[in-house]
Amino acid sequence: MYLGLDLGTSGMRGVLVREDQSIVAEAEASYGTERPHPGWSEQDPAHWIQACDYILSELSEKAPDATRHLRAIGISGHMHGATLLDDQGEVLRPCILWNDTRSAAEARDLDSTENVRALSGNIVFPGFTAPKLCWVRNNEPEIFKKTAKVLLPKDYLNFWLTGAYASDMSDSAGTSWLDVQARDWSETLLDAGNMRADQMPKLFEGCEAVATLRPDLANRWGVGADVIIVAGAGDNAAAACGIGALNEGDGFVSLGTSGVLLAARDSYAPSPASAVHTFCHAVPNTWYQMGVILAATDSLNWLARALQNDAQTLTAALGETISGPGRVQFLPYLSGERTPHNDSTIRGALLELDINTGPEALTQAVLEGVAFALRDNLEALQSTGAQLTSAIAIGGGSKSPYWVELVATILGIPLHLPEKGEFGAALGAARLAICGATGASPDTVMTKPEIALTIEPRSDLSSDYQEAYASFKSLYPGIKALTS
Ligand code: XUL
Repeated sequence: MYLGLDLGTSGMRGVLVREDQSIVAEAEASYGTERPHPGWSEQDPAHWIQACDYILSELSEKAPDATRHLRAIGISGHMHGATLLDDQGEVLRPCILWNDTRSAAEARDLDSTENVRALSGNIVFPGFTAPKLCWVRNNEPEIFKKTAKVLLPKDYLNFWLTGAYASDMSDSAGTSWLDVQARDWSETLLDAGNMRADQMPKLFEGCEAVATLRPDLANRWGVGADVIIVAGAGDNAAAACGIGALNEGDGFVSLGTSGVLLAARDSYAPSPASAVHTFCHAVPNTWYQMGVILAATDSLNWLARALQNDAQTLTAALGETISGPGRVQFLPYLSGERTPHNDSTIRGALLELDINTGPEALTQAVLEGVAFALRDNLEALQSTGAQLTSAIAIGGGSKSPYWVELVATILGIPLHLPEKGEFGAALGAARLAICGATGASPDTVMTKPEIALTIEPRSDLSSDYQEAYASFKSLYPGIKALTS
């Protein structure tokens, strides 16, 4: 038995699978995000531990026999978060998350430092880990002084499970401290960020075993001795493992809290200027590229909160199929934007509101704005040479047939919807655990899911949406000029 855990932004999910990857049991726990100041986004790492403990207790209650036979655990997690620990392994402050933009000034400085883009392969975005530590140094010097280790969220959970300070290449690639081509910490990048190599965890490939589970936890959950913990992966690399996106041409569009358009690449082809992210994959010797928008379902959930409704009711009211762009326009920059604008100060906008604009028109505008922003990401990816001629749709938003058809039409590529079942980051993490414990090659374990349905772009409407996209594209400079 193998366990995949996905430490997500809104909660944690665990799936227990057999070696043939059939699902034995699953469990979930949710937690919140604190936003104490505009642009801030934090989580208390203690909540991840509570969620993990709850999930393991649930699984051992639901499937005691299977849990007893657990061989390995793999963890996927939201990327870039800074969890600061003192020399006793105690958490020094809440974790600063991937969608936190407080360190914009520090990111700008690091980004313009010689060799930083060349070695890290990426723009230093404010959400990345290195500028957060510069912010802590500038604003919380006492905490900075006490920082003995910096761990990414899933690595903190691994530390709690094992006592070992470890990370994997895919997650570490999002710190701006890793030489992404060499797959190693870079002295130059660490120096640029005022950090030291001894503050970094030891690096592993995603499916490598890091250590075994603490005996007290093994006892508590009724699992056997010697459960292996593998290094795991950042959530996007783990999701790519979950759908078997390992080779050139494979990719996904994820409508999660963030929106991601990911393309697996056969070689390392960074292009920081495009604001595309180029990161190590969770599989040795491979890389992937992605465009990231900061608010996909986060935009829809914002609207649902504002209308005191729920997201599902709002999308269901639009029906299952698209009928052409609406008049109202939405810019989804609620937390700033990464690809293609690299702009942490821009904020969202609704335009062309009319006396008759109601919840349906607003929902349509929000779904369209997110889809147009993803189209910006496709263009950025294509500029690096990545070719996506189709993609698998994943994430909570892919449950809306309307949204998937809209995204397919605006991207101009077919989107595949997998059969019901597991195919996300938690399965990807379980697959890494299987590879780590059995020595099986990732190619044989990380297969593609069965496709239930392929949603083709609506050719009858594509020119209308192209026109609307051109208008969307023209809005950013105007809003920027008005609001900055
Ligand atoms: C990727 C990114 C997000 C988070 C949260 O660079 O910031 O996709 O990993 O899912």
